[in-house]
Amino acid sequence: MAKLRYGIIGAGGCGKGKHLASYSLLADQVQIVAVCDIIAEKADAAADQFGAEAAYTDYRQMLAEEKLDLVSVATPNFVHAPAAIAALEAGAHVHCEKPASMTPELVQSMVDAKNRTGRKLMIGLNNRFTPWAQFAKQWVLAGNLGEIYHAKCGWKRRRGIPGKGGWFTTKAQSGGGPLIDLGVHFLDVCNYLLDFPQPATCSGSTYSKFADCGTSTMSSNKFATAESTYDVEDLAVGFVRYVNGISLELEFSWASNTAQEYNYIELYGTKGGLKYEKGQLTLFEDFQGTVLDASPKLKNDGAWGNAETRHFVDCILNDREVLSKPEEAVKIMQIIQGIYQSAATGGEVRVG
Ligand SMILES: NC(=O)c1ccc[n+]([C@@H]2O[C@H](COP(=O)([O-])OP(=O)(O)OC[C@H]3O[C@@H](n4cnc5c(N)ncnc54)[C@H](O)[C@@H]3O)[C@@H](O)[C@H]2O)c1
Repeated sequence: MAKLRYGIIGAGGCGKGKHLASYSLLADQVQIVAVCDIIAEKADAAADQFGAEAAYTDYRQMLAEEKLDLVSVATPNFVHAPAAIAALEAGAHVHCEKPASMTPELVQSMVDAKNRTGRKLMIGLNNRFTPWAQFAKQWVLAGNLGEIYHAKCGWKRRRGIPGKGGWFTTKAQSGGGPLIDLGVHFLDVCNYLLDFPQPATCSGSTYSKFADCGTSTMSSNKFATAESTYDVEDLAVGFVRYVNGISLELEFSWASNTAQEYNYIELYGTKGGLKYEKGQLTLFEDFQGTVLDASPKLKNDGAWGNAETRHFVDCILNDREVLSKPEEAVKIMQIIQGIYQSAATGGEVRVG
């Protein structure tokens, strides 16, 4: 069987560390053919490191010349929609990094391109593919929580603003701060466990307090200079009501005077509950009049992205449905946009 001809758009931290590293482990099925980055040195270095034949600085040229079957998009967020749509239209299946794009309308345009071309499009939400998220999904599906009526999720860092002063902190290129960057991961897992109900209203607040802060716990943190941009939030909090009556509280921050980095999801059900926090999943139950906590011992599945790339290759080769669907990403972006609009206007926003 011919190998899938693979190319990548964006050879930065995630492109190399997640996509190229994990697709290179699938050498029986995938041939890394071409790397594109607008910075020629980065494209050349990644092509050398992962044995690609060609390096490009223009993804449209790469797509026209290489006849790729599979393309990763791991650029700054504002490039996701145009690059993914161009790759789908060139006939490739596309593995696009999170957040799918910056607005629900842009994500919908990616869904439309996927439907028009008949190719597959998967969003790189690696937390979905973790053993804890998959165990939690099966636990919920088995009815162990009864009726779920409320949820909470969050991800907070003490000092962890990525690429400060670069594209991450420039709203026109990122779409926002920690809500769209970290929030998209845990909002996605939380909504996956809730079976993606339609959001109805959002209210929220955002704060930007750490632009001038000089302490960092991230090696990639570059400090803002007078010329650099920091026009995104560093804390977002919010409340979502769904059409089916479920509610969700959220908080996402890159920098806060709080405990060191941690993330969590909590589900409240009539029969049981569930909490994921600091790498541990805990299941809350009632047994014969006694409350009971259970902690599954889950195996880790190896490095960042491996389970996800294996899954996408299997979906392509065996024509299966992808786990992390762009249609679901439209709903997540409705929530994110709703929180940002509410924070800007000070009122509750109707979404969807
Ligand atoms: N799934 C995860 O856990 C995870 C983690 C980190 C980043 N990400 C996502 O990956 C994406 C990239 O983040 P990163 O941390 O690697 O950023 P980065 O800045 O390290 O890398 C982005 C790369 O894209 C290149 N680029 C920019 N515009 C381009 C274009 N038009 N064509 C080709 N290349 C272009 C840049 O030169 C850079 O090398 C973002 O969407 C981010 O949200 C996901």
